[in-house]
Amino acid sequence: MKVLTQNTALATFGHTIPAAFFTGGAFIAGVSAWLIVKNRDVEMAKPAAKLGLVTMIVSFLLVFVSGDISSRVMTNQQPMKMAAAEALYTTQSGAPFSLFTVGTLDGSRPVFSIDLPSMLSLLSTGNTKGVVQGVNDLEAKYKVQYGPGNYTPNIPLAYWSFRLMIGFGGLGLLFALLALWRMRKGGLPKGRWFLPAMISLPFLPLLANSLGWIFTETGRQPWAVFGLIKTADGVSPSVAAGNVAITMIGFTILYGILAVIEFGLIIRTIKVGPAPDEPQRLETEFGGDTERPLTMAY
Ligand code: HEM
Repeated sequence: MKVLTQNTALATFGHTIPAAFFTGGAFIAGVSAWLIVKNRDVEMAKPAAKLGLVTMIVSFLLVFVSGDISSRVMTNQQPMKMAAAEALYTTQSGAPFSLFTVGTLDGSRPVFSIDLPSMLSLLSTGNTKGVVQGVNDLEAKYKVQYGPGNYTPNIPLAYWSFRLMIGFGGLGLLFALLALWRMRKGGLPKGRWFLPAMISLPFLPLLANSLGWIFTETGRQPWAVFGLIKTADGVSPSVAAGNVAITMIGFTILYGILAVIEFGLIIRTIKVGPAPDEPQRLETEFGGDTERPLTMAY
């Protein structure tokens, strides 16, 4: 129970559930845009598109709030992950949030950066003057605390996956706002590039989710459980490399097949479109006046 209720699990749960709603909203909006392009079930597709877009906006706000909470919990429990996510090499108070940083090839210092002043301290500690520990200081500290080794994760990967998670999500939010604006007063989302872009909307949360996950898993390296178990120590000596390879290949093939089937079923369901309303269906299937009340039935 303690594992399930520890604050990283709670913060992450609160982050990934609205992220799933964000994805669902984008999916509904994308499919509705496709129906509008094909001029099929437009009367149903219009409110459905709005529902998807509003879901995206509301869930993004929740993703943002929970992401902010996650950032603080993460900085407290895994300070190296936040330092790597920000390419912050030396400990600072009032640390800036980097919009773009180029570092040296060995990843030990920045060469060029564009920053938002004090933003990182605010994000990580809730205070613009808060102290955020840097990669080089943490590396030196961990060498003393845990013994010789490399305690720095892949900085470019952590840096870009963190930014792109937020960036693709933010792009989805902007698009949802723009689409709702264009659909105000009952209008349709129109435009040579706009509707195709709206159909591609589900890819944005897909990318944001994948990058969030990549960030979470790679940013904690070399630890499986921060400060307790290294990933290298999690390797089971009694399982041969060949067995691991066979299991990996087996699972990849199995999930690949399932993905193809699922994708095919989704596309087929979208192409079939929504089921007609009951009176309409009865009329098409049996003919006659479905408006008249039913007087007798056996
Ligand atoms: C809006 C600003 C955002 C902030 C501040 C933020 C913050 C974070 C942080 C700090 C983590 C790492 C948690 C940890 O390693 O302990 C994380 C992970 C994650 N984020 Fe975000 N995020 C944001 C937007 C998004 C968006 C838009 C999505 C997807 C639609 C998303 C999906 C994820 C996912 C799937 C994870 C991985 C969770 C896990 O595997 O444990 N995030 N986010």
